[in-house]
Amino acid sequence: TLFEQLGGEAAVTAVTTQFYANIQADATVSNFFNGINMADQTNKTASFLCAALGGPKAWGGRNLKEVHANMGVTNAQFTTVIGHLRSALTSAGVAADLVEQTVAVAETVRGDVVTA
Ligand code: HEM
Repeated sequence: TLFEQLGGEAAVTAVTTQFYANIQADATVSNFFNGINMADQTNKTASFLCAALGGPKAWGGRNLKEVHANMGVTNAQFTTVIGHLRSALTSAGVAADLVEQTVAVAETVRGDVVTA
């Protein structure tokens, strides 16, 4: 699975931590996370990604369409955030083809997150 190829839960969590660091350093998308506990956010998103990448534990959290409703995320903002995931994967040394396959999995939630 992609989960195994990336190096399992520890590797996915490390990439997710860098993903949110990149987001928080980008004023075009950081405001969405004002007041959010980023340690919890990192753990939840890492759990979601582990499941989506073929890991052994099912996602036990909330429905992503309900979670992101009313945030007003645009397609352009979503694309920016996907870019932050791509850089986090690349800076972790993940091979380019695996980066793109992982990004493709994250892209599957675009329709649940984008509402504007
Ligand atoms: C939760 C914003 C993209 C997965 C949240 C929350 C915010 C947020 C503010 C916290 C909601 C709350 O606790 O009240 C955004 C923005 C995105 C984006 C602005 C893109 C522009 C994504 C993507 C994924 C994702 C690409 C998955 C790959 C999650 C998960 C939660 C969450 C798993 C927690 C759900 C739960 O509480 O059970 N998001 N998100 N989000 N987001 Fe996103």
